[in-house]
Amino acid sequence: MSILSQFDQNIDAKACFAAVRNLLFPFNLKRGSATTNAELELTEFLGQPAVLVDSGRTALYLILEQLKKQNPNKTEVLVSGYTCVVVVNSILKAGLKPVYLDITSINFKLDPESLHSRVSANTLALIVQNTFGFVDDYDFLQSFCQQHDLSLIEDAAHSIGAKYKEQKIGTLGDFAFFSFGSNKIITSSRGGALTAKDQKALLEIRELVLRLPFQPISQILKHNFKTVCFYLFTKIYYELKLGKAILAVFSKLGLFPKIITDQEKSLTVEEIECYQYPNSLARLLLGQIKSLPENLAHREKIANIYAHNLNIDLISNLDFSAPNQAFLSFPISFDSSVDLKNLYAKLESFNLQLGLEWSFQNIVPQNIDFQMTKYELLSCSNAERIAKITVCLPTHSKITEAAAHKIIKLLNNEQLYR
Ligand SMILES: Cc1ncc(COP(=O)(O)O)c(C=O)c1O
Repeated sequence: MSILSQFDQNIDAKACFAAVRNLLFPFNLKRGSATTNAELELTEFLGQPAVLVDSGRTALYLILEQLKKQNPNKTEVLVSGYTCVVVVNSILKAGLKPVYLDITSINFKLDPESLHSRVSANTLALIVQNTFGFVDDYDFLQSFCQQHDLSLIEDAAHSIGAKYKEQKIGTLGDFAFFSFGSNKIITSSRGGALTAKDQKALLEIRELVLRLPFQPISQILKHNFKTVCFYLFTKIYYELKLGKAILAVFSKLGLFPKIITDQEKSLTVEEIECYQYPNSLARLLLGQIKSLPENLAHREKIANIYAHNLNIDLISNLDFSAPNQAFLSFPISFDSSVDLKNLYAKLESFNLQLGLEWSFQNIVPQNIDFQMTKYELLSCSNAERIAKITVCLPTHSKITEAAAHKIIKLLNNEQLYR
């Protein structure tokens, strides 16, 4: 039995079929009714209007540009010290300064002490990340933002469908954005959306979006091609080793789009483009928002199996008492003496691939120009420590109960760590 992690994506047969259709009949790849319909699906789901864009990173950039118009003198954005480089790029591209916040030891939440000490008269907004789908303390964050006259931006890239006290994530802040990138809760290989409390602001952003270019057709086709390949070949990834070889060759040939480009890794922000969401990718997304409850119920079931059966020391950073979390993945933490790369290699020999995308360093992924992030070493010591020991276990639709138990059996085996 093969068990893939982040690498494997939550692509169902319907999305694969839509991608095949896009490749065979390449009509209306950029504009068409699917974008409108997907936008309506999200609007209905949230209970407030949403605008689709090419990615979560584009959505964040547009939100920040809008906020800048309202507060031209404020230049700083508070952001989790355990984050992805594309978030940092959006802040820098908007000409703003990221001010990193430490996180707490439980559930990757923003550390209140750090918030109090790093907010200033210059702070424009606070981004709450709900990392891996663990919902932060909104009562506290909302009153903090009110007290300091800041806008609250919800980064719901990991947490679509989660709730805080029965209210959907994405409807609690002044602005919110979502990601439909590969390995997110719902995916069209690439995609994103944003919403706002202030309808006038959302309208202004919508007008801006309509003036953005689309990604080149070649890129749009690559996203469709990647969707089909990952749906078909990950099934035979380990069984025959053939799937792995095919995906590796296609990737080498440049047939798959990069999730994070070289410019993004080097934080060359002036070269990073923002795009509209193409109709052909909206065709992949359609239906996925409606089936979110089943998607999330599956993730929660797998997370519960991990929570009840993994050795207690692996889940010591987690608290499951709050209901309605999203469980994008199930992050476990190892003792700092465990060599994650070595562990990864050992587990791969058992056909289990761990998710290391959020491991090793607090601004991920690993091969970025860290200096350009403007992160000061040791300024978020907990975030640095936690990133070094965290590994993500998969919860997506292809993880069966049997697969979860196989993962647990492997990880609970003390021999593995010797
Ligand atoms: C926490 C977080 N926020 C935002 C994003 C940006 O989403 P996208 O990849 O759609 O630009 C990501 C993407 O990886 C993310 O992990």
